[in-house]
Amino acid sequence: MSDVNTADDGMIFADDNDDNGVIHGSEMLGAWKILIVDDEESVHNVTKLALMDFRFADKGIEFSHAYSGADAKKMISENPDTAVVLLDVVMEDDHAGLDVARFIREDANNKTVRIVLRTGQPGQAPERDVITTYDINDYKEKTELTSQKLFTLMYSSLRSYRDIIALENNKRGLEEVISASANIFELKNMNHFTRGVLDQMTALMHLDRDAVYCKTDGLAACHAKDKFEVMAATGDFEDMVGANVHDALPHEVLQDLNAVATKRQNIYLDDRFLGFFKSEGGTENLVYLSGLTHQVGDLDRSLLELFTRNVGIAYQNIELHQDIENTQREIVYMLGEAVETRSKETGNHVKRVAEISKLLGLGYGLEEPDVNILKLASPMHDLGKIGIPDAILNKPGRHTEEEFEIMKTHAILGHDMLINSERKILRAGAIIARDHHEKWNGAGYPNGCKENDIHIYGRIVAIADVFDALGSERCYKKAWPLDKIIDLMREERGHHFEPKLVDILLANMDQVTAIRDQYADIF
Ligand code: C2E
Ligand code: SIN
Ligand code: SIN
Ligand code: FE
Ligand code: FE
Repeated sequence: MSDVNTADDGMIFADDNDDNGVIHGSEMLGAWKILIVDDEESVHNVTKLALMDFRFADKGIEFSHAYSGADAKKMISENPDTAVVLLDVVMEDDHAGLDVARFIREDANNKTVRIVLRTGQPGQAPERDVITTYDINDYKEKTELTSQKLFTLMYSSLRSYRDIIALENNKRGLEEVISASANIFELKNMNHFTRGVLDQMTALMHLDRDAVYCKTDGLAACHAKDKFEVMAATGDFEDMVGANVHDALPHEVLQDLNAVATKRQNIYLDDRFLGFFKSEGGTENLVYLSGLTHQVGDLDRSLLELFTRNVGIAYQNIELHQDIENTQREIVYMLGEAVETRSKETGNHVKRVAEISKLLGLGYGLEEPDVNILKLASPMHDLGKIGIPDAILNKPGRHTEEEFEIMKTHAILGHDMLINSERKILRAGAIIARDHHEKWNGAGYPNGCKENDIHIYGRIVAIADVFDALGSERCYKKAWPLDKIIDLMREERGHHFEPKLVDILLANMDQVTAIRDQYADIF
């Protein structure tokens, strides 16, 4: 092959002793990979010579050479990104080439490489069903190996290879966008969501799997009326979460963020990407990704735009979800406060019970979403007091036995007021109203259940409620000092209260005290 290798016209070929293997043209990076399979050396040489100056879509050709069917199978397995195989039919036996074609499509499962069969003599044309079954692009007789014909052949083969690859990438990209979108649609917490968008965005930027190493730094910032804050960050920006953008970020980054906020659409620069997501509420969310190694191509751009639209929708979902949750929270507190007002409990009793219940729930090992529900629902534990006559509810002294029997109905009254709701929080409130006066030993009301038959929410609110009621002034009693309250908690361990919960409460008295201070009663 020295005839082509002495090329002094600037073409770069590998070492001429490397007759059997791949030509390692590192300078040919980005070339189309062509595999020539033929047991005749001269066919290799003629082909190479004919295609020496060939270029398609700004790329040249990198040849590999196989001299038998066995070699060809090995080489195609090792180079699945081969664009075209020029395949001799008759080599070690008279169907070696057809075996290679079958191997490529079936064993190697390579559907992208274009296969051109080349037969030695006229009349050796492969069966029609071979051509269709193995997706053979073309077949040529070797006598047709003129420069012009090879050129045309290569041009059309590469064009179809390029289109197949583009479709493949498109399909893969869409799959990535769909899975990225599914991922962010699951996130309901705004901080998790923002971090998820940043991670998925970074992943989509690296769709190009050839990128060997690429360090990306990214951040997502939220721009609302009165604040411009870093919501999530990776790489060099990692430490800046929660910081004010103006204080934390370098001037250039700030300029970029201002640019995208002004332009109100994604901006693609050489080494960085600026994303823009607006929400109905007027909040602007900006994503900044730096350290990209090459320009974002057209395909990636359209995929990113698609993802951006989905992020906008997901973002709106979260805002709605948060709005609903905030509304529920407000209603629940208003209900709790209505009870406090009626029973002249001027204070923050329900807020303290909510915080202490959360503390106990987390210490007990409940899942975070369940603890969240518990915290939101616990202010409703005494909702049934609304149905208790004023003379009994606000009696300035001890109850008689009959009065207390009526008072005890507040548990079931509260339950019945809430249980028909579809809302998770209100249903949890029903359970809590029903169970918050049950006792671990079974001596409580309304049902006298014991131990684990009492819902965990009820067991938790029972201890939070009594702890706080004892520390508060009531129309029928004075507030107790903390040491007396703690004594009673110890005495009731395993009687009124679940032992494990008493232990958690007493082990966390510093936090409990902080809650009492934060939500102290104002007289
Ligand atoms: P509350 O005032 O919110 O008290 C909740 C729970 O804290 C009580 O449930 C009880 O377990 C505990 N607790 C409150 N104060 C004391 C106390 O001085 N000593 C002891 N050992 N425990 C205390 P309970 O007893 O089932 O009462 C439920 C609700 O009935 C009370 O809610 C309060 O609204 C009302 N209540 C109970 N006894 C009287 C009373 O003698 N007079 C009046 N006016 N209301 C009472
Ligand atoms: C990359 O790997 O940095 C990115 C870019 C691309 O091709 O979109
Ligand atoms: C729990 O048992 O912790 C949660 C169940 C519920 O939501 O009622
Ligand atoms: Fe109660
Ligand atoms: Fe209470």
